Amino acid sequence: MWQGRFSGKPDKLMQEFSQSVSFDQRLWREDIQGSLAYAAELQRIGILTKKELADIKKGFRQITEEIEAGKFQWKVELEDVHMNIESRLTQLIGDAGKKLHTGRSRNDQVATDLRMWCWRRATELVKAAQALGRVIVERAHEHMDVIIPAYTHLQRAQPVRLSHQLAAYAGWMADDAGFVDFQRLLTMLDSPLGAGACTGNSFGVDQHELAGAIAAATDRGLRQRKVIHNSLRAVGDRDFALDLVYACARCMSHLSRIAEDLILWSTAEFGFITLGDAVTTGSSIMPQKRNPDACELVRGKTGRVVGHLMSLFTLLKGLPMTYNRDLQEDKEAVFDATDQTLACLRVMALVFSKENFKVNRERIQAHLDSGAGYMEAMNVADWLVLQGVPFRDGHDITGRLVKYVEQKGMRFADLTAKDLAAVDKRLKPELLKELSLEALVERKQVYAGTARARVLERLAELKSWLGESR
Ligand code: ARG
Repeated sequence: MWQGRFSGKPDKLMQEFSQSVSFDQRLWREDIQGSLAYAAELQRIGILTKKELADIKKGFRQITEEIEAGKFQWKVELEDVHMNIESRLTQLIGDAGKKLHTGRSRNDQVATDLRMWCWRRATELVKAAQALGRVIVERAHEHMDVIIPAYTHLQRAQPVRLSHQLAAYAGWMADDAGFVDFQRLLTMLDSPLGAGACTGNSFGVDQHELAGAIAAATDRGLRQRKVIHNSLRAVGDRDFALDLVYACARCMSHLSRIAEDLILWSTAEFGFITLGDAVTTGSSIMPQKRNPDACELVRGKTGRVVGHLMSLFTLLKGLPMTYNRDLQEDKEAVFDATDQTLACLRVMALVFSKENFKVNRERIQAHLDSGAGYMEAMNVADWLVLQGVPFRDGHDITGRLVKYVEQKGMRFADLTAKDLAAVDKRLKPELLKELSLEALVERKQVYAGTARARVLERLAELKSWLGESR
């Protein structure tokens, strides 16, 4: 494509080193759609005849068929997806194929392709995050009244509905879906086409026409998108890729924390849940084992995705204006970050399916009945406040009661009126019937609290946030 000013060929090693077709062939569909939009514009301004445009369309139809059938011959010598496709087009239709690149550069071409690809990927990510959120909401309804400890510092803190914690997870997914969608709508599909190598187009293409055509080809619901306001930025920016990979990293950090809870909950020590066969594996040496590999891999892949965000920032930080070949290194980060995030969202939806997320109610009840962690104590402090005792004094009295219970090796459930009186005369016998964990959960009647009615309201809200996106 550029051999004119060269007399030698690139070294074999250099060819291998600089090729990107092995990974950027994933952009083939966007590359063809971008080229079709560009060809139509070239015809409008008289560079291509109607017949040539028709030939180009026909050529691309054949190339599409070849690629879809796995028959397209990708050639490393042709370096990247753009040159592979253009070369095949020229082979098929002759001179019209050679005219296609008039006024265009691979610099605005690749920026266009990648933006279209990211938009589509973002759409898939939004859907997957919403789908996971919806599955989690289903589980929350199913286990509405199961009470577990809520932890701070990984120490038992206060009782909570399992459904409330699941709603927190679903809320993350609703946020992540909204966040990816927001990034997508921001600038992702602004159009660089017509920026050429870096300074614009000499033949008078209408960049707004091109932007509209690219938008419509990417997403039928879209008509007009913005043209990037400066040709240098159009080919030199990868902010849209950073935004998308950041959105992935953020989502993964949520998935990783969720995965970590499930890993803990499925240990013999907790035993709150059992994960199904479909998402766990055995051990090659210990026949008794059931390992939560799906969740562990989600946690592990999070590091990888965050790493891609760092590599993109590092890639960009010292680049002089405008396009530099370094930018070819953006693709694998974007591809892998989004591949992994999408896979993790889908796998977590499987983990949270009815079949695989099994809640061990008896085991949880046994934990609560053991009285360990003295979560009932908050009942006492709250009750004292309602009797007019200042909270700090109530805190002290309750603290002494906990010490008493601990020293006697008893549970709150075993307390009698005599015990209460022995600790403080303000601890009246009526307190005894106020000690249940259910009562404590139900007293949290505030908007975001654990009372049944509030959790149900929030779940209904979540459901609407997690509705199907466009
Ligand atoms: N494969 C290249 C990339 O991904 C395409 C652009 C190459 N442009 C150039 N002038 N060498 O960035």
